[in-house]
Amino acid sequence: MSNLEQTLSIIKPDAVERNLTEEIKKIFNKNSLNIKDSKKLHVTKDEAAEFYRVHQSKPFYNDLCAYLSSGPIVVMILEGENAISTYRKLMGATDPKDAEENTIRKLYGLSIDKNSVHGSDSLENAKKEINFFFKN
Ligand code: CDP
Ligand code: MG
Repeated sequence: MSNLEQTLSIIKPDAVERNLTEEIKKIFNKNSLNIKDSKKLHVTKDEAAEFYRVHQSKPFYNDLCAYLSSGPIVVMILEGENAISTYRKLMGATDPKDAEENTIRKLYGLSIDKNSVHGSDSLENAKKEINFFFKN
C-alpha cells in the first residue's frame, strides 16, 4: 500500500559552506525524495533554540543552537514513499563515524555536531518542523 509522506530536511551550515547543497539534492532525487519546496536562510539563535526545543535538557543544546545559527542553511520539504524513514536511512547515524557507507553523513559529515544534515524523526515531528519553516 502507498504511504506518501513529507519530511523536513535541513542542510546545515558546514555543508552549505562547503557548497554541498547541489550534491545533496542529487542524492534526494536519486532516491525518489522529491523536493517540494526549498529555501536558504540564516536563523537567529532564538529561532534555532525554538526549533531544537525537544533537546533543551541535553548537554549539547546550547552549542547545537549556536551552531545552527552560525551560517546559512537550506531547508527543504521532501516528499516520497515512506519519506521519513527513507530519508533517515539515507542520512545515516548521528555521528558520521558510525554512519554506514554511502550515507550523507558518512560522505560529508565532519563530526557529531557538524554532521551536514537534519531530518525529522517521526510523522508528528515532520509536521511540526515543516510548519516551523514553511508556514503559509
Ligand atoms: O540529528 P539526529 O536526529 O540524528 O540526532 P539527535 O539526537 O536528534 O540530535 C540532534 C543534533 O544534535 C544532531 O544532529 C547533532 O548535530 C547534535 N548532537 C551533538 O552535537 N552531540 C550529541 N552528543 C548528540 C547530538
Ligand atoms: Mg533528531
